[in-house]
Amino acid sequence: MADLTPGRPKAAGVRLSVEPAGHTEYGPGVLAELPAFVDRLGHGRVFVVTDRGLRATGIVGRVEKILAGAGIEHAVHEDVGPNPSTAELDRGAAALRGFGDSVVLALGGGSALDAAKGISLLAGNPGAAAADADRLWDAAGGLPLIAVPTTAGTGAETNGFGVAEDVCARRKVYIGHSSVRPRITVLDPELTLGLPAGITAATGLDALVHGIESLASRRSTPFSAAYAAQAVALVGRWLPAAYRDGGDLEARAELMLGAHLAGHALTLSGLGLVHGIGHALTAHTGTPHGVALAAVLEEVMAFSATAAAEAYETTARALHATPAPDWAGAAIEAVREISRAIEIKRSLRELGVAREDIPALAADAVADAVTGNAPRLPSAAEVAELLHSVY
Ligand SMILES: NC(=O)c1ccc[n+]([C@@H]2O[C@H](COP(=O)([O-])OP(=O)(O)OC[C@H]3O[C@@H](n4cnc5c(N)ncnc54)[C@H](O)[C@@H]3O)[C@@H](O)[C@H]2O)c1
Ligand SMILES: [Fe+2]
Repeated sequence: MADLTPGRPKAAGVRLSVEPAGHTEYGPGVLAELPAFVDRLGHGRVFVVTDRGLRATGIVGRVEKILAGAGIEHAVHEDVGPNPSTAELDRGAAALRGFGDSVVLALGGGSALDAAKGISLLAGNPGAAAADADRLWDAAGGLPLIAVPTTAGTGAETNGFGVAEDVCARRKVYIGHSSVRPRITVLDPELTLGLPAGITAATGLDALVHGIESLASRRSTPFSAAYAAQAVALVGRWLPAAYRDGGDLEARAELMLGAHLAGHALTLSGLGLVHGIGHALTAHTGTPHGVALAAVLEEVMAFSATAAAEAYETTARALHATPAPDWAGAAIEAVREISRAIEIKRSLRELGVAREDIPALAADAVADAVTGNAPRLPSAAEVAELLHSVY
């Protein structure tokens, strides 16, 4: 076992307030126990929120069968797409208000999980619309949630907020409330066995970055670092194996746990510049989140190295890298190897960026709130230079 302590954030003299995590049920086949989890929340009715692509995988049918087998009244709402819109949330809320009091079962990747949180919150606030997100943080609570992630992944099951696109106002809204943080998370790695290699790579790399950026965040604490170090170790070790052989249940199981721990880490500490640039790239080009992060990961690490020496030492140790030329260099090389193994690195040109778009991309990345956690705060000119280097 690697010694993960040297990069530990200091705790002495620091005031910490940490909210305990929700309940997690983990293991291959644990989905079959869903009726008991619904019962634990004291409800007998379930409103399933999932995305349009998931029925074809057979997962939605399995959930329906399990619920019907236990005599649980339920409805399935599948009108959610990737990166959900406020209009989709409003339609989902109308359907949930029609169905009535129930547990909301969030089933899918980060898109379905985020949508379910927003839909649940809106249903608890009659008359509210998703575009009102900014004032819903202190509003009445939503219906209780059970999260069943099917990607490994965003870690969206660990927190009570989601991102939605307000197409009319052309802005991203963060919609959330402490009441819609899932009460129970069901982590069944068998659900990820059929995930295509490209989505495995993109979602898994997202989890790796969550761990690394959490370690390097200005808001890192011993709590978040404990989650993050273990997450980097698990994702780093098992992501290439899951990419090579999607049917490898051991790799899928370890990767799913790593992604979940990375979610806890980021929820406690926030992220950094890789995500700031990633969000801008996705908004400009529609690039999937994990692919956008991969385009700049090693370069942002090199830019941040002087300010993140301890975090990168922890990263390198978790990835079993030897310290050559130094710990930061070792961490960057280890990350590069993972990126190569899962064939995810693209140039900005390949992602459809035009050179003249780089100043706007850089400005958006610097303005993104997530960038404020970065260990070395960049200027727009420095981000632009970095983006030119990966064009
Ligand atoms: N709330 C948070 O903390 C948080 C954090 C990061 C990202 N997000 C959000 O998460 C979203 C991205 O989530 P994602 O990366 O999980 O992708 P996704 O949810 O958009 O899913 C990607 C694709 O994979 C398919 N899919 C999902 N599970 C599958 C399975 N088991 N087998 C086959 N196909 C499957 C989906 O149908 C979809 O087409 C973005 O909207 C992002 O904003 C939220
Ligand atoms: Fe992410």
